[in-house]
Amino acid sequence: MTRVRTLSSLSAILFLSILCCMNVSANSQKLIDTGEMLYNQNCVFCHQADAIGKTGFAPSLSNPELLAIASDKYLASTIRDGRIGTAMGPYAHLGKEKIIAIVAYLRSHETLPHRSAEVDKQRSAQGDARKGELWYHDICSTCHGPQGDGYLAGSSGTAIGKAGFLSKASDGFIRETIKYGRSNTRMLPFYGSAGLANLDEQEIEDIITYLRTLNK
Ligand code: HEC
Ligand code: HEC
Repeated sequence: MTRVRTLSSLSAILFLSILCCMNVSANSQKLIDTGEMLYNQNCVFCHQADAIGKTGFAPSLSNPELLAIASDKYLASTIRDGRIGTAMGPYAHLGKEKIIAIVAYLRSHETLPHRSAEVDKQRSAQGDARKGELWYHDICSTCHGPQGDGYLAGSSGTAIGKAGFLSKASDGFIRETIKYGRSNTRMLPFYGSAGLANLDEQEIEDIITYLRTLNK
């Protein structure tokens, strides 16, 4: 008797938890669908279908390396505040809920293990800004502009010398992007012998330290 009762209550619990999970995933699918609709209304013109971006116009937002290291806070606050001095305007008028839905839609493209918590906790860059400036002008400025002004300087890369980016990105985020690049974009990996420019750890620290001086 008791055994039957235990069994039936166990299956009831199982049934309820399945129902509950179905509900959660139905809810998150709904959020993603809402986000996709909002994306198509507000963002697709620049960031393109499936958020693949367009070189020299708007970066990819479905890029796996970006999504792996970009926290929800990074994405949501960039959408909310935009990037002053670039074509990326502020979307605060959409309100928090709609921005969260858009972030959920972008996340639905995520394919690599997510590691923004670890990346944002990395140590601050400690380098020599003067050396970093030399590296920057040797390697980065052709694509990001001589002052990191990005597309407005006629470049193919984004405005990494401006406050809009620098105020949201952690040193870990910049470090990982320089090391591993962003697949299927012109942003290549620059670290070690497999990287384009064979930069070592210290040279990358120098570049980040230099970039931080541009924000002032
Ligand atoms: C051949 C062109 C090219 C070179 C050289 C290049 N980048 Fe990039 N970089 C890009 C592009 C393009 C993107 C944006 C990717 C996209 O379009 O989706 C990017 C993105 C970035 C980002 C992320 C910015 C953001 O808005 O999230 C950082 C940081 C960055 N690059 C740093 C550097 C540094 C530092 C160097 C020099 C060591 C460098 N890049 C060299 C083309 C380049
Ligand atoms: C008028 C064109 C335009 C529209 C519309 C637009 N963006 Fe952007 N977006 C840009 C540009 C240009 C950049 C890069 C700015 C720079 O150089 O730093 C950017 C950058 C971003 C970034 C930072 C990506 C990275 O690599 O770090 C995010 C996130 C973003 N946009 C999300 C959105 C979302 C979501 C929408 C719609 C609500 C949107 N954008 C609408 C042009 C646009």
